[in-house]
Amino acid sequence: MAHPDEKTPAAPPPKIEARELYKSFGENHVLRGMDIKLHAGESLVVLGGSGSGKSVMIKCVLGLMTPDVGQILINGKDVTHRRGRAALEARASFGMLFQHGALFDSLRIWENVAFGLVHAKGMKRPAAREKAIATLKDVGLDASTADLWPPELSGGMQKRAALARAIAPSPDVLLFDEPTTGLDPITAAVISRLIIGTVKRLGVSALSITHDMACAKTIGDRAAMIQNGRIVWSGRGADLDKSGNAYVDQFVHGRAERAAAQ
Ligand SMILES: Nc1ncnc2c1ncn2[C@@H]1O[C@H](COP(=O)(O)OP(=O)(O)OP(=O)(O)O)[C@@H](O)[C@H]1O
Ligand SMILES: [Mg+2]
Repeated sequence: MAHPDEKTPAAPPPKIEARELYKSFGENHVLRGMDIKLHAGESLVVLGGSGSGKSVMIKCVLGLMTPDVGQILINGKDVTHRRGRAALEARASFGMLFQHGALFDSLRIWENVAFGLVHAKGMKRPAAREKAIATLKDVGLDASTADLWPPELSGGMQKRAALARAIAPSPDVLLFDEPTTGLDPITAAVISRLIIGTVKRLGVSALSITHDMACAKTIGDRAAMIQNGRIVWSGRGADLDKSGNAYVDQFVHGRAERAAAQ
């Protein structure tokens, strides 16, 4: 039992916090007071229409872009104005799954998965290969895929391999950019379940941007909606259908109608 004098340990700071971000390109005011908090162990999905600033937001988080106003904190540390190596170091614990060009076509699957292990962590190739094969198995890919080239894999298998590459260096934050785009609905659902299963199994935190409502509901412990450069609604991913927010409703149903019409 805790000693009565013992202080309750302070809650850990959010893994990622974006405070009041503003970013304009000339007269195009993209971010207008955007606040985002990713807590340890949670999976947050950020939704928003095309051109709403999702990529700009994630680029600010990754340090690829600097907000005009506002702060980016990682594990409670202000990293807004770090550049170059310092910016990379602040994000060393991040794993990223990109929407396009997820894998290097000139590298075999295992070399893709081992990329961060070899280049960032200095692991020797034989050990990195072994770790890559184990990680491929963790995401449901057989060891026989290790020596294939990316174009030899289906879209769903490529997403699995990209997920393996993101998790191989043991990150504690995973960022997903449109993780299910380009997949058929069944494969998209399988990949969404794999993503949330992996996030929970590893106990990492995840920040995703997506247009796919089914994906958002599956992988989001929490979801947040961007409108006019700021977050206008935030709630449980499972509650997106009953948000009580007119814009979220419009987005959910607009998307659903468009999908049904295709
Ligand atoms: N480097 C840049 N220079 C000028 N304008 C930019 C730049 N990057 C983004 N923008 C503008 O910022 C706005 C938001 O772009 P962003 O790519 O963040 O949208 P998004 O929400 O990711 O859209 P999508 O869902 O289509 O990917 C757009 O109007 C875009 O033209
Ligand atoms: Mg985008």
